Amino acid sequence: RRLLGAAGAAGAAGLALGAAGGALGTAAATEPPTALSTVGSNRVPFRGDHQPGIIEPAQAHGHLLALDLAPGAGRKEAAALLRRWTRTAEALMAGETPASRLHDTGIALDAGPSSLTVTFGFGRTFFDRTGLAARRPSALAPLPPFSADELDAGRSDGDLWVQIGADDALVAFHALRALQREADGTARVRWQMNGFNRSPGATAAPRTARNLMGQVDGTNNPKETDEDFRQRVFVPAGGDPEWMAGGSYAVVRRIRMLLDDWERVPLDGQEKVIGRRKSDGAPLSGGSETTPVDLDKRGPDGNLAIAADAHVRVTAPASNGGAAMLRRSFSYHDGFRDDGAPDAGLLFVAWQADPMRGFVPVQRKLDRGDALSRFIRHEASALFAVPGGARKGEYVGQRLFE
Ligand code: HEM
Repeated sequence: RRLLGAAGAAGAAGLALGAAGGALGTAAATEPPTALSTVGSNRVPFRGDHQPGIIEPAQAHGHLLALDLAPGAGRKEAAALLRRWTRTAEALMAGETPASRLHDTGIALDAGPSSLTVTFGFGRTFFDRTGLAARRPSALAPLPPFSADELDAGRSDGDLWVQIGADDALVAFHALRALQREADGTARVRWQMNGFNRSPGATAAPRTARNLMGQVDGTNNPKETDEDFRQRVFVPAGGDPEWMAGGSYAVVRRIRMLLDDWERVPLDGQEKVIGRRKSDGAPLSGGSETTPVDLDKRGPDGNLAIAADAHVRVTAPASNGGAAMLRRSFSYHDGFRDDGAPDAGLLFVAWQADPMRGFVPVQRKLDRGDALSRFIRHEASALFAVPGGARKGEYVGQRLFE
């Protein structure tokens, strides 16, 4: 984990001091206050080879935001916005009040950085609006249409993308508001989606998160310790285009879950749909959560332990010519629909060095119908080029504009 631990402890300590002050009077001023947990003080570095918010564990709160450049805003204005955004994001991730042309809203004044990450990306249309079409990566070609898609254009695509994650809801909103205000006059919000995951510390030990279907989700993600991890997730130096070195492509899909239908399926049926046990995520071919899936294993009845249409069989790299992606998603719930069904599901975010060797071939297979398909609907879609991390003195995406 790229966390700097207690570097932002001042914020969390301030909170504890405030709480203790009421009970202990002046004693609290002399005793060093103890934070209730380190959740607030965890800090993720902003600068590095890659942008933050890709390999760190997904936080408890997330905002995904797409913006379109305002009429009249072009390359110069876009570069200036990224410069402002970089300054603000760096300060916010350090738990500091951003030194911006705007007064700070104060929303997160008494909190630490809370593992805040801010990630910026460019959509396909950005390059036309800024006269940079010649520098557009070929990997940003539109995703192919999938037969089961029910996409809402208003909640898809966008010139610019901002992903915000934090383990505190106010810290996340503070960042969202600060960045949106910085964009004023240059870019307008096209769509926003809000998501969540389990709070750190809610389980006895750190565990793979569950989604709203109750499944342990993320087990077979590529791991940083895998030899080919970087090759799968990040564009290499000398790659095409060069300005994307250290970057990655994010596929964002808003996938609604038909939870009323799903929850009517008995446990063994639910487990067959995925090919893993619901309780602990262990594959139905045996072992524990981390045991490799055995797709050839047969039960005493001669049937495949992991059904032919099980989600993990259809999506496994072995079934897709090695295609793999890093899934780092948030759950969402936007209230209830007219028929009473929850408007809830997965803000699916998949990271890969090349969508044609990650999301696309796998989704093509899923689109033919795996066992999970009848319980989900893809309602929005976007693809963004997320440039490498800002080096010292640089703003995010600077290499594109040079
Ligand atoms: C694995 C759920 C959509 C790709 C899994 C697993 C679960 C799951 C529970 C098993 C645990 C794990 O390895 O993470 C879901 C749900 C979805 C969804 C609820 C929709 C709401 C997708 C989509 C794709 C995808 C759209 C890509 C196009 C994968 C991959 C694996 C996986 C690559 C790992 C397969 C392996 O190597 O074993 N998913 N998934 N999933 N899913 Fe999904």
